[in-house]
Amino acid sequence: MWNYVLASILVLVVSLLYHCYFNSPASIIVHPNAHYDYVIVGAGTAGCVVASRLSEISNVTVLLVEAGGHFGWVSSVPILAPFMQRTDVDWSYSTEPQNFSSKGFWNHIQNIPRGKGLGGSGQINHLVHSFGKPEDYKAWPKGWSHADLLPYFKKVSDIMNVMSSPEEEYLAEAFLMAEESLKLNNVTLQKGMYTAKRGSRWSTFNAHLQNAWNRRNLHILTNTLVSKILFKENLNADGIEVIYKDGSVGKIAATKEVILCAGVINTPQLLLLSGIGSAEELDKFQIPVVSNLPEVGKNLFDHLLLPLYVNLEARVSVTLYKLQTVPEVLSYFVYGRGWYATNGIMAVGRANDSGVMLFGMGSTDENILKSLSNYKTEPYRAMYPSYNNGTQEGFLFLTHCLQPKSRGSVSLKSSDIRHQPKIDPAYLQDYDDVLCSHRAINFAIQTAETPKFREYGAKVHHPDLEECRHLPRDYRDLEYTECVLRVAALTSYHVCGTCRMGADDRSVVDEKLRVRGVKRLRIIDSSVLPSPISGNPNSVVIAIAERASDVILHRTSD
Ligand SMILES: Cc1cc2nc3c(=O)[nH]c(=O)nc-3n(C[C@H](O)[C@H](O)[C@H](O)COP(=O)(O)OP(=O)(O)OC[C@H]3O[C@@H](n4cnc5c(N)ncnc54)[C@H](O)[C@@H]3O)c2cc1C
Ligand SMILES: *[C@@H]1O[C@H](CO)[C@@H](O)[C@H](O)[C@H]1NC(C)=O
Ligand SMILES: *[C@@H]1O[C@H](CO)[C@@H](O)[C@H](O)[C@H]1NC(C)=O
Ligand SMILES: *[C@@H]1O[C@H](CO)[C@@H](O)[C@H](O)[C@H]1NC(C)=O
Ligand SMILES: *[C@@H]1O[C@H](CO)[C@@H](O)[C@H](O)[C@H]1NC(C)=O
Ligand SMILES: *[C@@H]1O[C@H](CO)[C@@H](O)[C@H](O)[C@H]1NC(C)=O
Repeated sequence: MWNYVLASILVLVVSLLYHCYFNSPASIIVHPNAHYDYVIVGAGTAGCVVASRLSEISNVTVLLVEAGGHFGWVSSVPILAPFMQRTDVDWSYSTEPQNFSSKGFWNHIQNIPRGKGLGGSGQINHLVHSFGKPEDYKAWPKGWSHADLLPYFKKVSDIMNVMSSPEEEYLAEAFLMAEESLKLNNVTLQKGMYTAKRGSRWSTFNAHLQNAWNRRNLHILTNTLVSKILFKENLNADGIEVIYKDGSVGKIAATKEVILCAGVINTPQLLLLSGIGSAEELDKFQIPVVSNLPEVGKNLFDHLLLPLYVNLEARVSVTLYKLQTVPEVLSYFVYGRGWYATNGIMAVGRANDSGVMLFGMGSTDENILKSLSNYKTEPYRAMYPSYNNGTQEGFLFLTHCLQPKSRGSVSLKSSDIRHQPKIDPAYLQDYDDVLCSHRAINFAIQTAETPKFREYGAKVHHPDLEECRHLPRDYRDLEYTECVLRVAALTSYHVCGTCRMGADDRSVVDEKLRVRGVKRLRIIDSSVLPSPISGNPNSVVIAIAERASDVILHRTSD
């Protein structure tokens, strides 16, 4: 009881202070100038980087336009990230009904959250830091090889304050010890890495935008939706059309470039609505074609996760009950320490194309995860058996295929920018993804059978799903695993790739991230990734934005 009262008062006080402080920067304006050198669309993970880098040059003027406003204070507490979902700081997208997966979700639909406001998805994500592995970049175009990106990875590591999961964390230790007993090839097991500072979220909003937002040459326009990219007859992007909060429409000119950082869903949507995309698709909506680029919105990929619940006897995990104790709450609010200061991902493992994240909490809150993800009740309860028990010890292995082959798309549903586009990830369309996920699941199970986990009484739960009852209830059985995957696997929020960069003419942007067929228009965000990262994408998106800023400012050699 008291912990709630105490926590509520603290939240209130801190929120008020936060609100006063964060609304005062000089760059946040209400009435934009008629023109700027650079106009950046979207203040998310990438947009915050680009805005801060370009405005370092004092005789260059920059406008950053963001559809949302400020994230509240809750977004700064790492473990509370899920509470941002399905609120007004989330675009709250959902997929088309899936034909090959998501049978345990209402209407076979997955919810796809995306952050809306200064910081974007980087302000609601789980902060896991990763650069994948060197081979991930083999097929990327000139300038974006692993070697080319290395200096930027170093820069990102320095700026983003990468931390590792707490010392003396039993589950992480058990997981790291598994490497020795498994004697497997190509296995890397490491502690969870995440970006945080003094117990608070550390995003590009903090690391980049806040450093820049008192510069006189940077203007930031919030609560303003960019509805169209405007072109001159010679196909130069020369400005944007916006819809202000009060519904009025305006135009702002860009004398050098328009830069799209609107993210994996909104960037292709905005391109399509501005006449850049498949001519055939544009015709259906009577949108005049500016550049016929059939791949706009294509090549969408994500990591589909299968959470394996592991029951424990030893008291070594985080439980809902432990999170709600007075010492735990105080330790965070007073010292910035404890579970609230972490993202719960204790360790991460990779073996060939198998990925596993160890989430140190098994007793998920049914009301939160079930409704946020759109799970139906029966499969939810089958997958997370301690759904109603806040004291049960356990954890989740979040298993996934690191290099899925299925590719989905973003396309138009309507010609109104305020309606969400059609999002079809086509999860598990390619059967190889089932095989790859099966290997990841078995890799996780193998680690759970190593001595330290056995000492803790670890038992992997094989769910009893109605749809899979005709099969032996055992993840080693491929058909059973396939069945469980198609019912209960869920997005890991790593959607990327809808405006692929490439050297070939079919790609949406070239090696300098310039949109093909037009001039003075660039894309810098998670949509340009040509192929998946064997890990979490956010830090890679930051590195891309850092390098792209250098390309614009001619600071790179190529
Ligand atoms: C819940 C969740 C958890 C995640 N966890 C992790 C993790 O732990 N580790 C990791 O590496 N990655 C994680 N990710 C993924 C990662 O956060 C994203 O890949 C990354 O933030 C994408 O950056 P971006 O710049 O492409 O887009 P975003 O950060 O989404 O930014 C796009 C911005 O553009 C704005 N915008 C869009 N359209 C318009 C418009 N028309 N006009 C004006 N503004 C517009 C949006 O409001 C937003 O602010 C997670 C994502 C989510 C949603
Ligand atoms: C800014 O200054 C540099 C050198 O001082 C000059 O080369 C450049 O053209 C200027 N840029 C603008 C946008 O005026
Ligand atoms: C799913 O299959 C149905 C019937 O074959 C088809 O009409 C629909 O377009 C498919 N949906 C997706 C998202 O692939
Ligand atoms: C390790 O993985 C790489 C690519 O991921 C592969 O080429 C190599 O054969 C693997 N090595 C072993 C010993 O499995
Ligand atoms: C990785 O692949 C190699 C080669 O195919 C295989 O020998 C090894 O066992 C694999 N490792 C794991 C953990 O699956
Ligand atoms: C919750 O888990 C604890 C620890 O295993 C157990 O003692 C208790 O009986 C469980 N409660 C319920 C309601 O299942």
